[in-house]
Amino acid sequence: MEEQIKAMRAEIEAAAAAITDSKEMYQLRKQYLDNKTGQISALMKNMRDLAPEERPAFGKIVNELKTWALDFFTAQDARLKSAELAKKNAAEQIDVTMPASAHACGALHPNTLIANELIEIFAGMGFTIFEGPEIENDYYNFTALNTPKDHPARDMQDTFYVSPELLLRTQTSAGQIRVMENTKPPIKILSPGKVFRSDDDATHSPMFSQMEGLVVDKGITLCDLQGMLDEFARNVFGEGVRTRLRPSYFPFTEPSVEVDVSCFECGGKGCRLCKDTGWIEVLGAGMVNRKVLENCGIDPDVYTGFAFGMGIERIAMLKYGIPNIKMLFESDVRVLSQFHE
Ligand code: PHE
Repeated sequence: MEEQIKAMRAEIEAAAAAITDSKEMYQLRKQYLDNKTGQISALMKNMRDLAPEERPAFGKIVNELKTWALDFFTAQDARLKSAELAKKNAAEQIDVTMPASAHACGALHPNTLIANELIEIFAGMGFTIFEGPEIENDYYNFTALNTPKDHPARDMQDTFYVSPELLLRTQTSAGQIRVMENTKPPIKILSPGKVFRSDDDATHSPMFSQMEGLVVDKGITLCDLQGMLDEFARNVFGEGVRTRLRPSYFPFTEPSVEVDVSCFECGGKGCRLCKDTGWIEVLGAGMVNRKVLENCGIDPDVYTGFAFGMGIERIAMLKYGIPNIKMLFESDVRVLSQFHE
């Protein structure tokens, strides 16, 4: 009997020596120590076949074997688990002295840079921001701006219609009406936004951005307009840049002007950028037409105002020397990453 016990012990030791995984060790432990199916428990059951006087001695050695096995497996388990932990720690080690992988740094889009710059300049003069809807109805985009149906000025802007009444706004001027309908003067707003025209070449895109300005109060004159535009020109294009107003036509302003800035490239002497004229056209503007004020319920005998509208892409192309408007819509990071504040 003792021989059988010794053999089982040797068998357990041999099996354990071949095991390197704590889960396998657990299976081996079960094979011997499980209360119902374990081989040591099975030995205890053999007791029935023994003579009564042999039973106590047999019980003692089986119990000794069981105690030994319990200790043995506990030690084996601790050995394997600590080896496994050491292995895991080694695999997860990080070298904190390694150089970090570089992340590309983003930059604001030139349109955003210009819009932010304009907002800062005009906010400094007391303007607040108004944003109108991109889908407009005919009334706000044209009729209220003194451009009734069949008015030839509608041809100046080729319009995308969404339905017979709804269209993609062709100009942020539509927002002027929304503001004047709802606000009693004094009014001083700056209105950035996307506009849409069926127009497509190197300097025109069917979608582009405008920045609209509107001031309405008692005693506003064209001088106020030019004073504010001078401030804008100096800030955006540089000290020493002047503005010039040329007569023009817009249905919603009277008089209407085109605004030029003196060429910031050649200082006015004439170069490729200003096509040898010394001046660069940057925006349209004028005194708000009496009819437009009336359409919004503002008395034109009491109040006057001016409005201006400029293309943000055009300002960006001029300021950063971007030759084609498409470069502003292609999202090519090699182009866009060059522009920083
Ligand atoms: N809305 C005009 C355009 O898109 C620009 C403009 C705005 C002109 C305000 C005068 C006054 O061409």
